[in-house]
Amino acid sequence: MTEPYGATPLDPDETRGLRFGHIETRAELDRMEQANIQDGMVWLGRQRGPEVLSEGFVRELHRRLFGRVWTWAGTFRLNEKNIGVAPEQIAVRLRNLLDDCRFWIDHETWTPTELALRFHHRLVWIHLFPNGNGRHARILADALLVHELGARPISWGGNGLLADSEHRDAYIGALRAADAGDYGPLLRLFRDDSR
Ligand SMILES: Nc1ncnc2c1ncn2[C@@H]1O[C@H](COP(=O)(O)OP(=O)(O)OP(=O)(O)O)[C@@H](O)[C@H]1O
Ligand SMILES: [Mg+2]
Repeated sequence: MTEPYGATPLDPDETRGLRFGHIETRAELDRMEQANIQDGMVWLGRQRGPEVLSEGFVRELHRRLFGRVWTWAGTFRLNEKNIGVAPEQIAVRLRNLLDDCRFWIDHETWTPTELALRFHHRLVWIHLFPNGNGRHARILADALLVHELGARPISWGGNGLLADSEHRDAYIGALRAADAGDYGPLLRLFRDDSR
């Protein structure tokens, strides 16, 4: 299977977690995952006052988005990837991020959009799960905006981010700039002009 630019390849033991034996192409897998994500979004839409900044919610959301496709959905990654912290560091780094985020909210350190984008970047940088990190972290950043900040979700650009496209290249490029501490490109790409 060819992965889109900036996607994380799966290890063989992760591929074995596929709940369907008959998926052969990337397009089929994308469709199965997309259907699962729709269900997960329905679940998310029903939540009233969820505790977004908790490990439990972060993992439960991933399970709801990917659990019909992957047995390991909602469980932290056990393998090293070309991106992300060492597997044994995941839980503590997430804890730190959730604490930092709570501090940013309490002290209004950033505007809601910048706060959500910084949260999104730190989350994909940790790379909690074997796969689905980008999609999960975009939906989670939006849940943070809606439920914790009373703000509108980010316009990520819909399908433009899923497949190879100029927009996806710009998104991955902006995350790499953020890896080096420069959040400018990410903010410019997803700036909410109506604010
Ligand atoms: N250099 C980087 N720094 C931070 N995050 C990155 C970097 N490169 C890629 N990413 C993130 O990792 C995601 C890919 O990880 P993964 O394949 O687990 O997510 P996905 O949801 O399956 O993919 P996608 O986001 O393409 O739908 C990218 O979407 C992006 O959010
Ligand atoms: Mg992927």
